[in-house]
Amino acid sequence: MPLARSLSVTSLSGLEEWDEEFDLEDAVLFEIAWEVANKVGGIYTVIQTKARLTAEEWGENYFLVGPYVESNVRTQVELIEPTNPVMKRTIDKMNSSGCKVYFGRWLIEGSPYVVLIDVAFTAWSLDRWKSELWELCDIGVPWFDREANDAVLFGFLTSWLLGEYAAQSEEPPHIVAHFHEWLAGLGLVLCRQRQLSVATIFTTHATLLGRYLCAGNVDFYNNLAEFNVDKEAGDRQIYHRYCLERAAAHCAHVFTTVSQITAIEAEHLLKRKPDFITPNGLNVKKFSAMHEFQNLHAQSKNRIQEFVRGHFYGHLDFNLDKCLFLFIAGRYEFSNKGADIFLEALARLNYLLRVNHSDVTVIAFFIMPARTNNFNVETLKGQAVRKQLWDTAQTVKERFGKKLYESLLVGQLPDVSKMLDKEDFTIMKRAIFATQRQCQPPICTHNMLEDSSDPILNCVRRIGLFNSSADRVKIIFHPEFLSSTSPLLPMDYEEFVRGCHLGVFPSYYEPWGYTPAECTVMGIPSISTNLSGFGCFMEEHIADPSAYGIYILDRRYRSVDESCNQLTSFLFQFCKQSRRQRIIQRNRTERLSDLLDWKYLGRFYISARHMALAKAFPDTYLYEAQEPFSASGFRYPRPASVPPSPALSRHSSPHHSEAEDNDEEDERYDEDLEAEKDRVNIRQPYSQTQKNKSS
Ligand code: UDP
Ligand code: G6P
Ligand code: GLC
Repeated sequence: MPLARSLSVTSLSGLEEWDEEFDLEDAVLFEIAWEVANKVGGIYTVIQTKARLTAEEWGENYFLVGPYVESNVRTQVELIEPTNPVMKRTIDKMNSSGCKVYFGRWLIEGSPYVVLIDVAFTAWSLDRWKSELWELCDIGVPWFDREANDAVLFGFLTSWLLGEYAAQSEEPPHIVAHFHEWLAGLGLVLCRQRQLSVATIFTTHATLLGRYLCAGNVDFYNNLAEFNVDKEAGDRQIYHRYCLERAAAHCAHVFTTVSQITAIEAEHLLKRKPDFITPNGLNVKKFSAMHEFQNLHAQSKNRIQEFVRGHFYGHLDFNLDKCLFLFIAGRYEFSNKGADIFLEALARLNYLLRVNHSDVTVIAFFIMPARTNNFNVETLKGQAVRKQLWDTAQTVKERFGKKLYESLLVGQLPDVSKMLDKEDFTIMKRAIFATQRQCQPPICTHNMLEDSSDPILNCVRRIGLFNSSADRVKIIFHPEFLSSTSPLLPMDYEEFVRGCHLGVFPSYYEPWGYTPAECTVMGIPSISTNLSGFGCFMEEHIADPSAYGIYILDRRYRSVDESCNQLTSFLFQFCKQSRRQRIIQRNRTERLSDLLDWKYLGRFYISARHMALAKAFPDTYLYEAQEPFSASGFRYPRPASVPPSPALSRHSSPHHSEAEDNDEEDERYDEDLEAEKDRVNIRQPYSQTQKNKSS
């Protein structure tokens, strides 16, 4: 007799209460995505961060399904025998019929079960399955589209898995299958076509056509309703992919997407309005000490500074303490991610900082993977030179210390003029000699395979930001995701973000955009846009986002040039902040974390599953629609004392000199008080706060 499980989700500090009583009975949840234990971009982050909450709700009845990739399995998965007898029989049956299916635990928070399917092992079935697909749905997949071929294999194998699981169960199970993105969509279409008894959900994290159209310089948002979708997809040679995506959206019991802006896009391009918007959350870590994340910022910043010392060796003519680290990161979609406008704004910022004789130096990092053949020699040499200088300093220090010790032993104060001898000077001169450099510090850390046609490098060439001494803005392009095992910048992405001052994500096409959300929960301010799901979500839920370090660039109603000017102004204002102001702003940013926590946002996924169960199994489940957010809409109020926007910035506290900037104890005390005041406001619903203000 299966255990009856029910769920009740209640409030998270300050945010609204939400209760949904729903008896899951014996239901089983499969969540299927190409990015399960396989990092490509943000979909991986969705699945990986949500796993803990979903595993808590579904326990042993939750299975993630993804592709088997040996290198990923070696580092992220513990392969085990399934304990669930139905699952065991299912996998055994598939494996004895020519498939290779693995079972294990994904070594992430929540340790969910994963079923990993080796699609290449079943490649011999590709032609047969493609013919079947053609006969069933008239979708023809060309031989040269490798990704689409994988999607066909993955689709047939996942629907096989679900059908087999149902067949192996003693009683007909209540299966919910949640498919993410077009690459997994065919499995859903086949489930419906084969009339499997499965409640299906399709979540799209972007539309294929939207992504392609935006990347191609089309005035997308003003023409959304006008596109001839079949023709546009055909012109871009993605008609078959588009058909798979559209079929999945239409076949699903419940169709969802990650933001309001993508919901509108889906309605026009996929011709179905999503039933739910499922905004992306994160697993928010709460530190017991309020300022812990500030300490982490300082530690990580030190490590970035070390890298910069090496990278700019021989040209360290700027003050590292007055250096601001900005960054953009994500999949390399030059214009969709707004790298184009960021570079242009950096050129304008460089001009402004120079003419205003600013003593601030900006280092802008571009972390976007491109095709390379490893690090370049000049960049590696920089770190070697830095290390050598460090070692030299240590050697001289030791020799110095020894002489000092000898002198004290005989009861004498040392003669300072004799503490460094000729040999010490020779060692030091030799080390300084090694820092001579004929070229400028490199822009790119790697050898690019397509150097001459690379969009970032070409843009840098055009705007002429070559890391010269006169430039106040320097650029470092790291065309690979970060890793703590890198010989160059040994930091993982999270550590790196913590050490930076501002994330800049001026995307033109961004259904959600995890990167600014991740900045927020780490207390790092960011720039996003009103064309990104995240930017719109924050605009909707915060009365004055910029006061919290959430700058939202207008890319919807302004020309590119105007947006670029606005971005330049955000950057320039940011450069004018004092250290104290940055610390205060980081505290405010971090306070928004609750809003992005899965504990809060997970409710939309939960509702979507309940709706799907009720649609597929109306005799067992009943779904009553609830508004997960109340009709009045939750909004974070303005902080108690705050400038309304960076451009009009009159900082809430009187200007402090640099000496005062170092007076951190006071700062924390002030800010703690202010935080407490804000917290009191946040705990009240928006309408209540407004009433209090007016009374
Ligand atoms: N990311 C990463 N390492 C890096 C840079 C980025 O793991 O060096 C991750 C980042 O944490 C984020 C994801 O890549 O979760 C990008 O997701 P986003 O939603 O911003 O964009 P997508 O690539 O999905 O369009
Ligand atoms: C954190 C640390 C401080 C440090 C500051 C630097 O707040 O707790 O010790 O001085 O970061 O801030 P900055 O914005 O200049 O990197
Ligand atoms: C897609 C989108 C990105 C979103 C991610 C997760 O890759 O491009 O904006 O954050 O999916 O939903």
